[in-house]
Amino acid sequence: MKKTILLLSLAGVCFGSSFFSRGDVAPINNELYKKECVSCHMGYQPGLLPSKSWTYMMNNLEHHFGTDASLDKVDRDAILKYLTANASENATQYKRSAKITASVDESKIYKSISEIPYIIQKHRKIDQKLINQKDVGGLSKCMACHTTADKGVYGDDYIKIPNYGRWDD
Ligand code: HEC
Ligand code: HEC
Repeated sequence: MKKTILLLSLAGVCFGSSFFSRGDVAPINNELYKKECVSCHMGYQPGLLPSKSWTYMMNNLEHHFGTDASLDKVDRDAILKYLTANASENATQYKRSAKITASVDESKIYKSISEIPYIIQKHRKIDQKLINQKDVGGLSKCMACHTTADKGVYGDDYIKIPNYGRWDD
């Protein structure tokens, strides 16, 4: 029994970054979140924001980016619990969550993903005209360029900017 555990943990150490690779951010795996938060826009993965940001957002749903996204208390609390448990600083086994965590100032509340320093830095080379064009509609529309964003996959291989094409840098 002990031997099996030892072998398993050794395998974990050896293949930690490849075989057992966790990818960019954890995909969404919460039905209530999908039901309540994935209708107006794609489901932003919890690992894209610190828990402080999610708490702020879930406490201000009646003023949610110019719309009212308020929920009853039971659903709100359940979703907030899911979001904070899987927020960037609690999911650093995922590559992008780790980078987001490393880039933020812990004393600050970031009110959107596009305010996160790592996200700003990653998109700084893209012409603003391409981001704001009609076929995209701003940086919040991840899916317009990251064809696999809804699966939590943001790598270069799956980026295609409308009216521009594949991203090569
Ligand atoms: C009534 C529609 C609506 C509902 C429901 C809704 N949202 Fe939003 N949300 C918006 C709009 C509009 C924006 C602004 C960005 C945009 O235009 O895509 C936004 C933006 C966001 C952003 C910021 C995206 C960025 O670029 O950083 C996050 C995160 C977010 N919503 C999370 C949630 C969560 C969590 C829920 C569920 C509690 C939720 N939303 C439910 C309309 C909605
Ligand atoms: C206008 C198109 C566009 C939109 C919209 C967009 N991105 Fe990106 N994103 C890119 C491009 C292009 C890159 C690659 C930049 C580079 O490598 O220089 C990138 C890079 C990234 C990376 C780093 C990937 C890597 O391989 O280094 C992450 C993470 C990311 N984007 C997340 C997001 C999220 C989350 C959203 C939505 C809130 C979003 N992006 C919206 C075009 C976009």
